[in-house]
Amino acid sequence: MSIIISPSILGGSFSNMEKTILEINKSRAEYIHFDVMDGDFVPNLTFGPQFISNLRSYSNKVFDVHLMIKRVQKFVDDYIKAGSDIISFHIEIEDDIRSLISKIKKNNVKCGIAIKPKTPWDKIEPYLDDIDQVIVMTVEPGFGGQVFMNDQINKIKKISEYIKSKNLNVKIEIDGGINYETGKTCIEVGANILVAGSFLFKQEDLIKATNSLYDALS
Ligand code: DX5
Ligand code: ZN
Repeated sequence: MSIIISPSILGGSFSNMEKTILEINKSRAEYIHFDVMDGDFVPNLTFGPQFISNLRSYSNKVFDVHLMIKRVQKFVDDYIKAGSDIISFHIEIEDDIRSLISKIKKNNVKCGIAIKPKTPWDKIEPYLDDIDQVIVMTVEPGFGGQVFMNDQINKIKKISEYIKSKNLNVKIEIDGGINYETGKTCIEVGANILVAGSFLFKQEDLIKATNSLYDALS
């Protein structure tokens, strides 16, 4: 399975995100990762559905929306209407997981479940036959620029082995601290999609940085 890079726009300039989207359009990244944070589920606040719908017409890339919010049931329709292609929410929320999965899929949007570093991987096991991707957080969710957590590598391996043993069609997305080295390690243990934020945005040329990460890991 070829590798997918999903640049996280958290590193971009919020006052001119169109420019960032148009740059990512010119890269070989297939996805664009939108980190939605509510200041409650995570100690940071980013943007809402309007921000995403305003950007929808600028790109045909896959809008990979990562909801780090507590009240998913209340807001999920807005993110569906905003033009998300994939909506991933966290397993740690209190809302009913099954009904969220079916609502997202009923609207022809792919569904993912994200899992924090401290959450055991088997919390998501009951849902793996019903979702399109798992996001394994390799940093504590909330901020870009953190260091990759090596103790999550074994979790990625376990999830990958389980998916293979059941012959499930679920992709593994890794989110947090991805660079050449950590990305390579994650792919070796079964990851398919790599979110990268600061590693790309801290470089001079976003397009070149994205394409060289893609080339290095494919
Ligand atoms: C963290 C976000 C990640 C983060 C990735 O809560 O979910 O997507 O922005 O950024 P880097 O690649 O800088 O860790
Ligand atoms: Zn994310």
